[in-house]
Amino acid sequence: MKKRILGSTGFDVSEIGLGCWQLGNDFGPLEDKQAQEILSVASDEGINLLDTADVYGGGISEDRIGRWLKKSKEKPFVITKVGRGETLFPASYTKNKVRENIQGSITRLGLEALDLVQLHCIPPEVLRNGEIFNWLEDFQQQGLIKNFGASVEMIDDAIFCCQVPKLATVQIIFNIFRQKAIETLLPKAAENNIGVIVRLPLASGLLSGKMAKDQKFSEQDHRNYNKDGAAFHVGETFNGLPFNKGIELVDQLKAILPSHLNLLETSLRWLLDQPQVSTIIAGASSPQQVIKNAQVSNLAPLDEELDKKLKMFYQSQVKQHIRGGI
Ligand SMILES: NC(=O)c1ccc[n+]([C@@H]2O[C@H](COP(=O)([O-])OP(=O)(O)OC[C@H]3O[C@@H](n4cnc5c(N)ncnc54)[C@H](OP(=O)(O)O)[C@@H]3O)[C@@H](O)[C@H]2O)c1
Repeated sequence: MKKRILGSTGFDVSEIGLGCWQLGNDFGPLEDKQAQEILSVASDEGINLLDTADVYGGGISEDRIGRWLKKSKEKPFVITKVGRGETLFPASYTKNKVRENIQGSITRLGLEALDLVQLHCIPPEVLRNGEIFNWLEDFQQQGLIKNFGASVEMIDDAIFCCQVPKLATVQIIFNIFRQKAIETLLPKAAENNIGVIVRLPLASGLLSGKMAKDQKFSEQDHRNYNKDGAAFHVGETFNGLPFNKGIELVDQLKAILPSHLNLLETSLRWLLDQPQVSTIIAGASSPQQVIKNAQVSNLAPLDEELDKKLKMFYQSQVKQHIRGGI
């Protein structure tokens, strides 16, 4: 597993990280044993960055990571999020309540301080008001958190964050089906030494290439109840693409891939080929998926011709179908 430096945190992180939303049962029920095995296999594969949030499964994801950390010799970087808890979101942010939410994460994870806390897609007006960043700076000075960053929906919000003093990272949706960051955010982030954490690298699994139009998702899976944005931002599920359109696009995309690469490998490798990307937090519902994703770190970069085709495909076929803005 190759490593990259995560912005101004200085952390040497695996270029493939593990997204831990699914550990909160938000992709359907996941047995505790399976959750622990996913974490152990990730560690065996050299993955040393886990991304979670206080609200995943109402704390279940952090709790599972905390129990795993207790028994593990390895000490991965655990990055979590604050800002979507019911005492805060959407308009009740106070310094005390943010601190309480952070302390909840520290307790569940069983840590003394958080490696990195990210604002969790808070309303853009709260983000741009900027006061919340002063609170985070205070928490950093008090030793509650080591670093802070922001996870955002829109690229313009990520660009805004790049000029926030002491901010270490931004987390964005970025994949073959959402390429806006390349021209805009990535150069800005590099200029300001901001780490770039990529979520939804597989567009909620669409880009694994295994799904079909008649695919069924469990009732508790956001890919069932949020496929059109009924519960939270539409972009967080299938990248904002209507599911059937996403499947059609995947079929078209498969036809332009070289025979030695499958869609999953192409999708993750394409992201790693962007030098400003620090880490990709791919979600995985089984240890086998973790292994396959981790192995992409060892693949050769894509050739220029394929990169050109993928960019043209996005511009001409995909962009116009994304709902919720980019
Ligand atoms: N607002 C935010 O800050 C925010 C929002 C969303 C996500 N996130 C973070 O980003 C992480 C990743 O996002 P995500 O899980 O939604 O999207 P993702 O990584 O694009 O997709 C994950 C899904 O892809 C499928 N998959 C993964 N590896 C596979 C493989 N090797 N073979 C076949 N299928 C594979 C699995 O689907 P099946 O389960 O169907 O097998 C898995 O659940 C989350 O865990 C979370 O940490 C943050």
